[in-house]
Amino acid sequence: MYNDNPTIPTLGKEIDESKQGQVFFDGQKSEAKKHFYIESYGCSMNFSDSEIVASILGEAGYGPTRDMDIADLILINTCSIREKAEYNVRRRLGVFNRIKRERPGIMIGVLGCMAERLKSKLMEEEKLVDLVVGPDAYRDLPNLLAGAEDGDKGINVLLSREETYADISPMRLQSNGITAFISIMRGCDNMCSFCVVPFTRGRERSRNSFSILAEANELVERGFKEVTLLGQNVDSYKWENPETKEVVNFAQLLEMVALVHPDLRVRFSTSHPKDITDEVLYTIAKYENICNYIHLPVQSGNSRVLKLMNRTYDIEWYKERVDSIYRIIPDCAISADIITGFCSETEEEHQDTLDIIEYSKYTMSYMFFYSERPGTMAARKYEDDIPLEVKKRRLSEVIEVQSKISAESNALDVGKTFKVLIEGNSKKSDLHFKGRNSQNKVIIFPKVDGYKPGDYIQIKVDKVTSATLLGNAVV
Ligand code: 5AD
Ligand code: SF4
Repeated sequence: MYNDNPTIPTLGKEIDESKQGQVFFDGQKSEAKKHFYIESYGCSMNFSDSEIVASILGEAGYGPTRDMDIADLILINTCSIREKAEYNVRRRLGVFNRIKRERPGIMIGVLGCMAERLKSKLMEEEKLVDLVVGPDAYRDLPNLLAGAEDGDKGINVLLSREETYADISPMRLQSNGITAFISIMRGCDNMCSFCVVPFTRGRERSRNSFSILAEANELVERGFKEVTLLGQNVDSYKWENPETKEVVNFAQLLEMVALVHPDLRVRFSTSHPKDITDEVLYTIAKYENICNYIHLPVQSGNSRVLKLMNRTYDIEWYKERVDSIYRIIPDCAISADIITGFCSETEEEHQDTLDIIEYSKYTMSYMFFYSERPGTMAARKYEDDIPLEVKKRRLSEVIEVQSKISAESNALDVGKTFKVLIEGNSKKSDLHFKGRNSQNKVIIFPKVDGYKPGDYIQIKVDKVTSATLLGNAVV
């Protein structure tokens, strides 16, 4: 679980803090001879990748288990985005190694961004793991496992320009049977100066549209009601059909997925302010089942800082995009990622970040203080000169303004009726259901006879807290 900041980076789709690191196998009981246990950290893309890994391991005869004490293979899918994320992974590796001391036959593997960033270091210098597999090398896992059993070094951190795992049907590990992720692209070409992702996940590539539609269709057949299309920068999705040479852009893909079934909700994340087009906005407005929610990371409210961050838009551009969203989709919710205390940020520039929260009226944000990452452009070119206490104080100011804006946004919902997709029991009470509206706000309401998780229900909001809406069914 990340503790460096009060919120978690999730490519916009909330991975509940309580789920960080956890494993869920939805009633899947494995008959396999060997078992793997996998923990996932970080963004939705990592959680989605773990489902691809599970599928590849399934083919190789490994079944999933929630119990690391019976696992033959313990995997940890890691995140490098901030220093603290890596620190937590090392702590977990310590726990796994204690288990290995008791059961020396088991294997420990590190997957994902930390594997890619540190390469052989965790295996050779620190002797913490037997396997190191980067985000583009998961197909090689069975081979690497077999080799490692024979004493070979189990490492593959090659990045690919083509790999999208398009043909792999993910094993839905942490599924509630209602909502699922579909990865539509991999990598990132943006090179934001603070970000390690382009180094750990490689070049941007888009997945075959037909395989995305096939996955959405299969999910509908299995009773799923919501998909989230995932990518580091979904608005630059672009897939060329090798036969017809026709190109599918993100707006067209969104429309195609929306047409899979009218009862299938479509969400997507993350949008980059430089790439989100009016065509995408009109597509969202046109289809009732494309959710009115856009995660649009601003990072900073000041144009000089945005330039240093290499975000390639200025704050006027960003405001114009926000204005267009509210013009074309009036009831759209917008959320953001925000970084405080980036290199050389002044108090006035920080004030601009507080102002953009008020301007954009984000329903929520993921907020972080800047953490220098080795190898990034910022680490090479700029001094990390804002003292930690200042970064943290600015972060708490950002959180305070965001909480006020979230509460104001929630207060405006009192008296409104929303179509809610029921996701399950509320955390606090078995007598209540929890669901979300199109704007991605959580709504808690008393259970109603005849309604179950996976159903849609009309809920009238009568009370709000700063984070949740409370209501009653209108049936
Ligand atoms: N320090 C702090 N936050 C970061 N993010 C990415 N890199 C860093 C960093 N070095 C944040 C950005 C991004 C989100 C996923 O994580 O806000 O949008
Ligand atoms: Fe990192 Fe920027 Fe790419 Fe997002 S768009 S993954 S912040 S480089």
